[in-house]
Amino acid sequence: MAAPNRHPLCCLPTPLHPLRRLSRSLGAEIWIKRDDLTGFAGGGNKGRKLEYLAGSLLESGAHTMVVCGALQSNFVRCAGALAATLGIRCVAVVMVLPFEGEVGRPAGHPPQTGGNVELDRILSVELEVIPDGPWEALFEAASDAAQRERELGRSVFEIPIGGSSPLGAHGFVLAGEEVSEEFDHIVVPTSSGSTHAGLAWHFHGSQTQVHGIACDPEPDLLDDVLRLCSGLDELHGIGKQIRANDLRLHPDWVGPGYGIPSELGQTALRRLAREEGVFLDPIYSAKAMSGLVGLAERGELAGRVLFWHTGGFATVCAPGAGDTG
Ligand SMILES: Cc1ncc(COP(=O)(O)O)c(C=O)c1O
Repeated sequence: MAAPNRHPLCCLPTPLHPLRRLSRSLGAEIWIKRDDLTGFAGGGNKGRKLEYLAGSLLESGAHTMVVCGALQSNFVRCAGALAATLGIRCVAVVMVLPFEGEVGRPAGHPPQTGGNVELDRILSVELEVIPDGPWEALFEAASDAAQRERELGRSVFEIPIGGSSPLGAHGFVLAGEEVSEEFDHIVVPTSSGSTHAGLAWHFHGSQTQVHGIACDPEPDLLDDVLRLCSGLDELHGIGKQIRANDLRLHPDWVGPGYGIPSELGQTALRRLAREEGVFLDPIYSAKAMSGLVGLAERGELAGRVLFWHTGGFATVCAPGAGDTG
């Protein structure tokens, strides 16, 4: 297969270092992969996906990018920064709080100003805010927006939620190559699935088990990750044929729902800040760290553990973000 084109955005490799105080207090050997420091537009996991999505966007020659997400989406912020640097438009269809239809809207109000919303405005992202509803309604509205743009004669590049296509996940297959130490476990937050899928695909067949901590109560999340893994088989022309049993996706640390901080997450956020001087975000990485602590306490993380910090600092800067507990 021809290797996907990379449009360099990130400062790679990101640092990887031990968390000595946390390791002592938890009685386990814990390291951290600092993808909060990927560098592009505030860092985080999105830059790695966008490097390959941008390669494909540039090939397409499109002048309008259409994305979607929650109003405080980290992905929209990073996609907006990419669009700005390429001199193209970024149309972002957003809901304050999309939710899983079967589960319903969680109690809680994500901040509607500050944080990523403010950064989106600085970047001239064209935010189309639609009423809260299920994820499917958000995806439909984004596809309608792309269609409207096409009808106006514009060439459009649509990016799925969170940059989670096989091409986005490819960024995390390559991220796996940066892990120079051997680990028994990698713990990562999972929402749209491509961070988890890329790492699980890379480490499949090795001693390293990748644990996704679900940040979203979506029942189809495992299927989403599996679909991305089979998309990676196709993209790479290698049939790893990852099955549900090969994946570890833990639903126990979602808390009240997607987009709403959890008490255990906020405790983990404070713990990492106070023990290591590392900040987490309340929606993804804090919940993933609460999962790491929980799995370690249950004795399910024997050996060396790597926490994959996916960034998201800007949500912490939103007024009212993460002030539970
Ligand atoms: C900071 C942060 N961490 C983790 C995730 C989850 O990654 P993924 O969408 O690839 O599952 C996201 C986005 O959804 C995010 O913004």
